[in-house]
This record gives sequence, C-alpha cells and structure tokens, in this order.
Amino acid sequence: MKGIRRATILNLLLIFSISVSLETSLAIQDEFLGCLESNSQPSNPISDAIYTHENPSFTSVLQSYVRNLRFSTPSTPKPIAIIAAKDESHVQATVVCAKKQGLQVRIRSGGHDYEGLSYVSYVPFIVLDMFNLRSIEINVTEESAWVQAGATLGELYYQIANRSNVHAFPAGVCPTLGTGGHFSGGGYGNLMRKYGLSVDNIVDARIVDAVGRILNRESMGEDLFWAIRGGGAASFAVILSWKIKLVKVPETVTVFNLARTVEEGKGPTELVWKWQQVADKLDPDLFIRLMLEPGNGTRKGEKTVQATFVAMFLGKPERLLPLMNQSFPELGLEPKDCVEMRWVESVLFWINIPKGGAPIELLLNRIPKGVSYLKRKSDYVKKPISKEDLESIWKLMIEVGEVGMHWNPYGGKMGEIPESETAFPHRAGNIFKIQYSVNWNQEGIETTNKFLNLTRTLFEAMTPYVSKDPREAFFCYRDIDIGSAGSNGNGTFQEASVYGHNYFKGNFERLVQVKTKVDPDNFFRYEQSIPTRPSYYSKIQ
Ligand SMILES: Cc1cc2nc3c(=O)[nH]c(=O)nc-3n(C[C@H](O)[C@H](O)[C@H](O)COP(=O)(O)OP(=O)(O)OC[C@H]3O[C@@H](n4cnc5c(N)ncnc54)[C@H](O)[C@@H]3O)c2cc1C
Ligand SMILES: *[C@@H]1O[C@H](CO)[C@@H](O)[C@H](O)[C@H]1NC(C)=O
Ligand SMILES: *[C@@H]1O[C@H](CO)[C@@H](O)[C@H](O)[C@H]1NC(C)=O
Ligand SMILES: *[C@@H]1O[C@H](CO)[C@@H](O)[C@H](O)[C@H]1NC(C)=O
Ligand SMILES: *[C@@H]1O[C@H](CO)[C@@H](O)[C@H](O)[C@H]1NC(C)=O
Ligand SMILES: *[C@@H]1O[C@H](CO)[C@@H](O)[C@H](O)[C@H]1NC(C)=O
Ligand SMILES: *[C@@H]1O[C@H](CO)[C@@H](O)[C@H](O)[C@H]1NC(C)=O
Repeated sequence: MKGIRRATILNLLLIFSISVSLETSLAIQDEFLGCLESNSQPSNPISDAIYTHENPSFTSVLQSYVRNLRFSTPSTPKPIAIIAAKDESHVQATVVCAKKQGLQVRIRSGGHDYEGLSYVSYVPFIVLDMFNLRSIEINVTEESAWVQAGATLGELYYQIANRSNVHAFPAGVCPTLGTGGHFSGGGYGNLMRKYGLSVDNIVDARIVDAVGRILNRESMGEDLFWAIRGGGAASFAVILSWKIKLVKVPETVTVFNLARTVEEGKGPTELVWKWQQVADKLDPDLFIRLMLEPGNGTRKGEKTVQATFVAMFLGKPERLLPLMNQSFPELGLEPKDCVEMRWVESVLFWINIPKGGAPIELLLNRIPKGVSYLKRKSDYVKKPISKEDLESIWKLMIEVGEVGMHWNPYGGKMGEIPESETAFPHRAGNIFKIQYSVNWNQEGIETTNKFLNLTRTLFEAMTPYVSKDPREAFFCYRDIDIGSAGSNGNGTFQEASVYGHNYFKGNFERLVQVKTKVDPDNFFRYEQSIPTRPSYYSKIQ
C-alpha cells in the first residue's frame, strides 16, 4: 500500500516536472520564434528557415549533418529548434534572439565534430545550421575565392578544378567536411608540407559577432581575425564566409598507396623507423602518410601490425622515383606503383577510389555513403621512437586490437611559420601528428564503452613517446577526454586552461584576451570554448 502510494506520488512529481519543463521550453520557444520573426526582414522572411519539433522534417534535417552516430540516439538531447539560415540576416537574427532568450547556440557547418558539439548540448539550445549558405565564388585572375561556411571541401575542390587545372587549396582529405568548422580549427591535408594549413591561406572573413553585427577583416580587427584562424570560431563569432588564397599545383600529380605486409613476427619496425627519419625532411612536394592497423599476419592465426604508406607528390614519377630511391629506398617504390592524375582526381584517390573509379562530380555529394560510431584522439611526436619502443607499440596495438593510428608528417612549410602567426600552434619541432582512430557499427552503451576504453588504453600507453607539458592535441580532432568546461561552458578557468593549453599552447592567453574583448558575456560557449579572463569570469558566474 505504502509502496503504491509512493510510486503514485513519484509519478505525479515526474509528470509535473516534465510538464513544467515542457511548458517552460514551449514558452521559450514561442518567445524565441516571435523574436526571430520581428528581427527578420520582409524581403528575406526567416519562417522557411525554421524547423521546430512539429515540423515533419525536423528529424531528417537534424540527422543530415550528423557524422558520428554516437550522438544520434533517442536519448541524445535535441535542440529546441534548428535555424537553417538562408540569408546572412537570419544568422544575425538568430544570434540576437538567442542571446535575448538566454538560449545556447550550437553552430553547425559540415557536422563532422568528433564529439558532436555542433549539434548536441545538455542545456536548452538551438542549432544554427549553415548548409543553405554554401556559395563559392572563384576569381582565377586574383587566385582567390569567397567560400561560404556551409560549402563542403568537395564542392570547393570541384569548383576550383572547374576553373583551373593548376590551382588547389590546402585543406582536409574528406570531401564532406564543412569549411565553417574545418578552417576555423586549422584544417590540414596532404598539401600541408608545401603550403601549410587552410588557416595559413585565409586572407579575409565575414562574420556575425556576439551582438549580431556583420564584420569583415578590417572591421573585426587583426586580433579577432587571428583568433578565428585556428582557435575555433565557435568561441567568438559565426563565420559567414572565408576569402581564401588559391595555391599552385602542377597539371599532373603523382600518388601511391603501398600496403606493406611484413615478415612474420617482425612488425613493420624497419620501415617505420626509416619513415620517422625522413618523413618531415623530404622535399615539401612530397607528403607520405603512414597508416598502422592491427591485423592478421601471413601465417594462419598470427596477428601483426600492417603499415600502409599513402603519398601525394606535386610532380611526375620521373622526379619522384629518384627522390624516393635516394631518401627512402627501403620502401621499394617502383614505377608501376605511381599513378599520375589531375589534382582534383587525387582527392578521390585519397578516399580510396582508384583512378577512373568515379566521376569527379562525386565530390558534390554532401552526404557520405555511410556513417558509423567513432572515437578519435591525437598526439604530437617530436623525437623519433626507437626500434625497441616501436616493437612494444606493435605488441600493444595487437593486444588492444581494433584501434588504428595515422601518422601524418610535418616539416616543410609547417616548420617555417611561427607558432604565434595564427592561433594554431603546432609548428616547428614536430616530426609527425598521430590520429588514433576506431569506427564501429553496433549501437549500445557497452559497445561504446569498450571502444572508448580501447582507444584510451592505447593513448595512455603512448605517453612516453609523445609531447608533454602540455600533451599537445589538434583542435580539429575534437577530444572531450582532454577536458571540459561543462555543457554550459561555465566551468572554472582552470578547467578551460587544461584543454586550452593542449590545443593552443602559448596562444591560449591571447585567445582568452580576444574572447574577453569581443564576447565578455560569454555568449558563444560550449564544452571546450575559450573562457573569458578570470576577473570577468567570476563576475558572470
Ligand atoms: C570523416 C572525417 C574526416 C576528417 N578529415 C580531416 C582532415 O583530413 N583534416 C582535418 O584537419 N580534419 C579532419 N577532420 C576533422 C574536421 O576538420 C573537424 O571535425 C571540423 O571541425 C569539421 O568541420 P565541420 O564544419 O564539418 O564541423 P561542425 O561539426 O559543423 O563544426 C565543428 C566545430 O566548428 C564550429 N563551427 C562550425 N561552423 C561554424 C561557423 N560557421 N562559425 C563558427 N563556428 C562554426 C562548431 O560549432 C563546432 O565547434 C575529419 C573529420 C571527419 C568526421
Ligand atoms: C577578380 O579579381 C581581379 C583582380 O583583383 C578584379 O579586377 C576582377 O574584377 C575580379 N573579378 C571578379 C569576377 O570579381
Ligand atoms: C564547369 O562547370 C560547368 C557547369 O556545371 C560545366 O558545364 C563545365 O563543363 C565545367 N567545366 C569544366 C572544365 O569542368
Ligand atoms: C583475421 O583472421 C580471423 C581468423 O583467424 C578472421 O576471422 C578475420 O576476419 C581476419 N581479419 C582480417 C581483417 O582479415
Ligand atoms: C637507386 O640509386 C642507386 C644508387 O644510389 C642506383 O644504383 C640505382 O640504379 C637507383 N635505382 C633507381 C630505380 O633509380
Ligand atoms: C579499461 O577498462 C579496464 C577494465 O574495466 C580498466 O581497468 C581500465 O582502467 C580502463 N582503461 C581506461 C584507459 O579507461
Ligand atoms: C553551469 O550551468 C549548469 C547548467 O545550467 C548549472 O547547473 C551549473 O550550476 C552552472 N555552474 C556554475 C558554476 O555556474
């Protein structure tokens, strides 16, 4: 009897609190939507851009730009509304009204954030979706382009190639990345050793700031323009568009992809050791990525680590072959391994489509073929890892299983740009960057925890071989394990300072200064945003 009564009371309490929170959120939603309407221009009505839960397309719009299924389950918190801005004025209205209603905004361009931070929050929030704003205007004479934040890399690469055979842009290898998030975190790809990162080739930007103004480089000032190049724009402003400088590539580039199955029991030690000696010192026209995966050996039942070398060379095989013979003969590159193609075709090659395997129009697909559950982490290596230590890494990778590593060489242009030039700090002194990577396809908390645990186990075991004080991490490879200031971005300054230094090293202090100046109320905030200066900080808490 007692038990039943208690259950009923609990139920009532539950219903009561749910209906209160529903009512509150409905009221907030109504006020927010009303504010949007009154801030929208009659010539550019905002109503078509708004998706609330009542809209039958709400779920499909939300899911269209989710690139990690871990953050697309029934229990994942959903936004109060999605504003898929169709005009710059819609972005302004969203900022002004969210600020007024005390709603958090999550800005999404391509949706590739590894921790889903562009579309998930644990406090009431809205998603400002940029996919409708994706125009690309290329000026070949000026070797430049204006690119809106919602454009994908594939669209950009395609449009550049449509206008020129000898131009390109240094950015990521995955064509569905959004330029809004990708460029603002640094943006790296296989042209990095020759031309640096995306941020090293950005010359202007249009943004909406924390009070809803549209600014460009001149009107925002050099401090803020510095911060949004590598510091993650979502702490400071909404990027509307970037002006980029195109770079020169030859009409024909050469690529190769060599999987090296190694002798039983030995692992790829010799090859990997040699790669570490040369990868960052090679001609900047050459970028050789090393991919390491635990897998089966040649003998039945035997486990080993497979090494695959994938390369981009800005030139022809006639120059590449002697270069490799001189610097890295152990790899045994032969003429038959070298594939010549246009730069734009190499983009497809880097996503495992062989030459001629698909038309380059594939780059215009904004939605990838498959999406899975995933976890990524990153590290930087400044001293070659000894052969003995490599052997123990192979043992560990085999023991852990499942988790692979991509080793991406630095050097070249990356070593010439000072750490303070942009907010992205990982420059000279790095031999390579590690990306830890695991994908899986089975839902469920146990499976997720298993894969997270495996990735963290490998990461912990790598501690002796990687950068320390701080243990540097790449901002684009978002990793919540390295610290969080809470979903409301209102944790302590000390908490923010941990991930802040891992991601930005000495540039963190300047980022805090800029943040304090341009967004003193900390409107643009999330788990890993840049905090305002502590004196301001204590005031707003
Ligand atoms: C399959 C895959 C491949 C990848 N390959 C590479 C690679 O080759 N090189 C590399 O460097 N990285 C790579 N990444 C990481 C990628 O660079 C980051 O995830 C990047 O943030 C993606 O940008 P986005 O616009 O797609 O992401 P989103 O999830 O939309 O945004 C990421 C972050 O940027 C913020 N943001 C987005 N748009 C704006 C805007 N308009 N204004 C202000 N803030 C904004 C978001 O709020 C969020 O904090 C890869 C990721 C995936 C999933
Ligand atoms: C391209 O840039 C050149 C040089 O700055 C300029 O004269 C020209 O008007 C631009 N073209 C377009 C279409 O904007
Ligand atoms: C460029 O794009 C236009 C329009 O889609 C197309 O007609 C043309 O063939 C393309 N040109 C090249 C060189 O790719
Ligand atoms: C490795 O071998 C096991 C059996 O020995 C097999 O089940 C598995 O599919 C193999 N994995 C790969 C990647 O070939
Ligand atoms: C590689 O270099 C050696 C000398 O260092 C030379 O004998 C050999 O012919 C070269 N091989 C190729 C394929 O160029
Ligand atoms: C992984 O799980 C094991 C077993 O539960 C635990 O002992 C270990 O601490 C975990 N490792 C990490 C890095 O979380
Ligand atoms: C931060 O925000 C959360 C969610 O609104 C709240 O519960 C918490 O008390 C806040 N913390 C501080 C330190 O203000």
